[in-house]
Amino acid sequence: RRPRLRDGLGRRFEYLRLSLTEVCNFRCSYCLPDGYRRPCGKSAELTVEEIERAVRAFAELGLWKVRLTGGEPTIRRDFEDVARAVSAVSGIRRVAMTTNGYRLAERAQRWRDAGVDALNISVDSLDPERFLAITGHDRLGEVLAGIDAARDAGFSSIKLNAVLMRGVNDDELDAMIRFVTARDLSLRFIEVMRTNDNAAFFAERHVPGESVVEQLQAAGWQRLPREDGAGPAVEFGHPEARGRIGIIAPYAKDFCADCNRLRLGSDGKFHLCLFGDGGFDLRDLLQSDSQQDELVARIVALTRGKAPGHRLHQGNSGATPHLASIGG
Ligand code: GTP
Ligand code: 5AD
Ligand code: SF4
Repeated sequence: RRPRLRDGLGRRFEYLRLSLTEVCNFRCSYCLPDGYRRPCGKSAELTVEEIERAVRAFAELGLWKVRLTGGEPTIRRDFEDVARAVSAVSGIRRVAMTTNGYRLAERAQRWRDAGVDALNISVDSLDPERFLAITGHDRLGEVLAGIDAARDAGFSSIKLNAVLMRGVNDDELDAMIRFVTARDLSLRFIEVMRTNDNAAFFAERHVPGESVVEQLQAAGWQRLPREDGAGPAVEFGHPEARGRIGIIAPYAKDFCADCNRLRLGSDGKFHLCLFGDGGFDLRDLLQSDSQQDELVARIVALTRGKAPGHRLHQGNSGATPHLASIGG
C-alpha cells in the first residue's frame, strides 16, 4: 500500500469533494442569483468511467470519504450510476452528498440504494416565503418532506446547511433550535463567503459566526468534540436537544489548520483549496486504467504544494467565482 497523502505542512487528506456538475436549478442569492449560465468554452463533465478512475487513485492514497457536490449533483441524468460507481471503489467507506433537496422526497430511497450514505441539505430558512426569496423556489415543504424521507431511508447522517445572512435569516436561531431539538440531525450556520461574484451581497449580508456562538452559549449549548473525519463545522449540543447546531466560520483564525480535504471539479480540475488556485488538470490521466500510477504520482506531487490557508482575508478574494463552480 502507498503512503497516506500529506501536504508540505503535514496535513493529511482523507476526504475528496467531487463536484459532478456546475449546473444548479436554484438561484440562491449568495451563489447564483441569476441562475446558472454555462461559461462558453467550458469543457464537458467527467464521465462515470473518468470519475471511477479518479476516485480509485485517491482511494489508493488513503482517502476514504467522498462527498458528491455541485452545482446540484442530482441534476445529472446518470447521477445514480455515478453514486454506484463511487461507492463500489475499494477503500471508499463513506459516500456523502450535498444537495438542495429538490427531488429528495421522491428519490431518497433510490439514492440510498445507489450507495449514498450521508446527506447535507441546504435549508436557509424555515419560513416558506423567505425560502422562496432566497432560493427562487417555493419548495420549503418538499424539502422538509425530503428530510423525513431521508430519515426513513436510513441515511447514517443528515446535516442541514443555513447560510447566515444579516436581515434575511439571522433572526431564525430560535426557530432552528426548536427544529433540531426534536430531530436527530445537525444544523450548521455557514458564514457567507466572499467570491468574485458576490462582493456587494457579502458587504451587505455577512454576519460573523461568533454572534451565533454567543447566543448558543448563553442558552446553555456546549461545544462538542470533533468527530473523526469531521469538516470545518464546530458543533454544539444541549442536554435537552436530540440534534446539534454547528457553525462554519471560514473567517475565523486557524480555520484552515485542520483542513482534511481535496477537491475534484466536474471538469477534472484538481483544486488544493476552495479558494486560491485555478485547478490542475487531471483529465488527461483519466483516459485509461493503464495511467493509474502516473495519476497517483501527479496527485502526490501537486498535494505537496497546498497553501497554508485561503485568501478570503485579502480585500478581494480574487480566487473563485460562485461556489457552485468548484463544489463548495
Ligand atoms: P462534512 O464535514 O463532510 O459534513 O462537509 P461540509 O460541512 O464541509 O460540507 P458541505 O458541502 O455541507 O459544505 C458546507 C459549507 O462549508 C459550504 O459553504 C462549503 O463551501 C463550506 N466548506 C466546505 N469545505 C470547506 C473548506 O475546506 N474551506 C472553506 N472555506 N469552506 C468549506
Ligand atoms: N458562502 C457560504 N456558503 C455558500 N454556499 C454556496 N455559496 C456560498 C457562499 N458564498 C453553500 C450552500 C450549500 C453549500 C454546499 O455551500 O448553501 O449549503
Ligand atoms: Fe482548506 Fe482552503 Fe478550505 Fe482552508 S479554505 S479549509 S485550506 S480548502
